[in-house]
Amino acid sequence: MKGLILAGGAGTGLRPLTHTGPKQLIPIANKPNILYCLEDVRDAGITEIGVILGENMPEKVEELLGDGSSYGVKITYIVQGAPRGIAHAVGCAREFVGNDPFVVYLGDNLLRGGIREMAEEFLEGDAEAQVALCKVPNPQRFGVAELDEDGNIVSLVEKPKEPKSDLALVGIYFFQESVFPIIDELKPSWRNELEITEAIDNLRTAGNLVKAHVVSGWWKDTGRPEDILEANQLILQDLETSIEGDVAEDVETRGNVSIGKGSKILPGSVIKGPVVVGENCEIGPKTYVGPYTSIGDNTRLVGGEIEDTIVVGDCVIDCGRRIVHSLIGRHSSILSSEGGKPAGHRLILGENSSVMI
Ligand code: DAU
Repeated sequence: MKGLILAGGAGTGLRPLTHTGPKQLIPIANKPNILYCLEDVRDAGITEIGVILGENMPEKVEELLGDGSSYGVKITYIVQGAPRGIAHAVGCAREFVGNDPFVVYLGDNLLRGGIREMAEEFLEGDAEAQVALCKVPNPQRFGVAELDEDGNIVSLVEKPKEPKSDLALVGIYFFQESVFPIIDELKPSWRNELEITEAIDNLRTAGNLVKAHVVSGWWKDTGRPEDILEANQLILQDLETSIEGDVAEDVETRGNVSIGKGSKILPGSVIKGPVVVGENCEIGPKTYVGPYTSIGDNTRLVGGEIEDTIVVGDCVIDCGRRIVHSLIGRHSSILSSEGGKPAGHRLILGENSSVMI
């Protein structure tokens, strides 16, 4: 089986963070989203992986993943260019896939339970396609599947206004080469994309077996800032303590905390986990870092409080305030201006932002 990871698309829902790179590279608990996908595919025993590149700084994806050897896989890059739809992206990979069965993994998805079991099920069975489904409170935002009592698919609709069920299509799909002629026949949808949901439904109505697998663990599509913070919380719940940096003697750490190489936590600070701090950071003195916070490499936090926040990296935060539920892009600085009233601030900042509060 081969793997296909999608790193194209527009990323409009995550501007300004995506003005300077693809959304699949946004770090969740200090690790780019696409690496979770790559590792999941690899851990299912799939080592030949195609990566679809879009037009928003694809070189950053290549820089991160290289030829795949540092992750134990072999990567082939496939240029899609403009975001003409997930089915279009899959169509671009026809030559790479050849006659092999393959899994398509959207590079902004995170799946707790992994795909190993599903991959085995697909290889052992005789289905032409297999979709993963997950119960969600807001199915209108996704592709939605309707199942009959025996678990057979009755309909598949992309972002229905009136969903027939609460089962969303997870961005992980298994196919045989039979999907390609179906993709060839697709017409652009209302959002001017070739829809994978429509391709799978057409495959099904043409008489092919399409199986559904309802996932048991959590699943997250990180298309919006609030989803990214939630994904960060979910990943940090499983964080293990690891202290490689220097922590001053009187620093209070509670819960699971990971401090990377070369980082210093200065006196009088409190780190209440789960918290991950990358490499070469300086935190303190007298700084509070609260639960569900991820601090990227080379960041300096001086004073104040921060909680439930992602700081991508190379940032300076020295404003003496409380920052909560925020996403702070690379190379941002948040500094203090005189005379401000103390208050909580909620920030969504792109790379190279500078805020004076
Ligand atoms: O996340 C699950 C949902 O993903 C499914 O429930 C939907 O059925 C499916 O259509 C898709 O919906 P989204 O609207 O969330 O798709 P989005 O445009 O965000 O693209 C998903 C991923 O695929 C993202 O990592 C970008 C990549 N992509 C997208 C397009 C349109 C490409 O690589 N090329 C593309 O042309």
